[in-house]
Amino acid sequence: MTSFFSSSHVFSSSSLHNPMLLLLLGFTIVFHVHECEAQLTTTFYDTTCPNVSTIVRDQVRQAQSSDLRILASLTRLFFHDCFANGCDGSILLDNSSTIVTEKDAAPNNNSVRGFDVIDNIKVAVENNCSGIVSCSDILAIAAEASVNLAGGPTWSVLLGRRDGTTTNLTAANNLPSPFDNVTILQQKFAAVNLTVTDLIALSGAHTFGRAQCRTFNQRLFNFSNTGNPDPSLNTTYLSALQQSCPQGGNISVLNDLDVSTPDTFDNQYYTNLQSLRGLLQTDQDLLSAASTNASTAPIVNDFAANQTTFFESFLEAMIKMGNIGVLTGSNGEIRSNCRQVNGASDMLMIEVGAKRSSSVENI
Ligand code: HEM
Repeated sequence: MTSFFSSSHVFSSSSLHNPMLLLLLGFTIVFHVHECEAQLTTTFYDTTCPNVSTIVRDQVRQAQSSDLRILASLTRLFFHDCFANGCDGSILLDNSSTIVTEKDAAPNNNSVRGFDVIDNIKVAVENNCSGIVSCSDILAIAAEASVNLAGGPTWSVLLGRRDGTTTNLTAANNLPSPFDNVTILQQKFAAVNLTVTDLIALSGAHTFGRAQCRTFNQRLFNFSNTGNPDPSLNTTYLSALQQSCPQGGNISVLNDLDVSTPDTFDNQYYTNLQSLRGLLQTDQDLLSAASTNASTAPIVNDFAANQTTFFESFLEAMIKMGNIGVLTGSNGEIRSNCRQVNGASDMLMIEVGAKRSSSVENI
């Protein structure tokens, strides 16, 4: 606030009639207010919904009993929520008269999953403490539970996010792509205040879960128009991938992101990179891309050598990621249905009612 007031003497009374300056003033105030309010805490629901973490974890565990992959899918859902429009639950919103869903963005379509599990969690939470816990916080808690249930670290999740009432399809389409080079990835992470260490630690989430052939098959036969596969692929691993994803085959076939321990959250992702068994090009490039690996390879090797270092860096980066563009205080809302902004179904009823009465008038 000091910076704002110390510079305020430059405004004369006539400048207050200048619409541009007023706009700037408005932005400055909004920015500072937003800055002050953006405070998440680990104790946010301690009095209002003390069992929320247990409820979420139980639901995740229940989903896991019939679907081992769900732990990975829920972790990814949180990432895709936070990187597009901030961690505001925007990824959960379905199409409506006011919402263009992020679910149709290229990186999400036929790819992100777990929405039904989030719905179940929300119902369980609402049954315990109605109207208190945001869908965006449920995503954050579910991600932590998932990582931990798969054998990864546990941490105290910062809470107090509120749900957004908008989506951002453009941002969702611009999520990190498996065809980006490391420089672009670094830029996309830097744009949300995440460092190169955060990039490498968070990529370690590819220690579990699956990827479709279409996300890496450019490496298998004619890499960069060389007529040969990607030289940074282990030849035995390459043969297996070529069998799983033959040319002209089904590009939706699923493959383990971590070939050695596919469902365990550990540091094997990094040792895989050392033996040239990273699945996505963006994974292997962190160690092998000659133009950028001077800054990334040492970190990969560090995480490969020391799982505790990886776990610490991972949870630190998850906490940072969980702070991206959060809505707090009186911004946003606590959605009652994670798929819709509040009042959406009422609005639909009003619209239907209005249409009915106008058609009655027309008779
Ligand atoms: C660094 C940039 C990243 C890129 C380019 C990337 C790309 C991808 C791609 C292409 C897939 C497979 C999708 C499909 O085939 O449908 C995938 C899966 C996955 N990603 Fe990432 N990702 C990145 C970062 C992250 C981060 C930061 C996290 C979480 C912290 C994450 C967690 C996951 C998980 C757990 C899966 C498996 C999901 C499942 O099995 O349902 N990824 N990622």
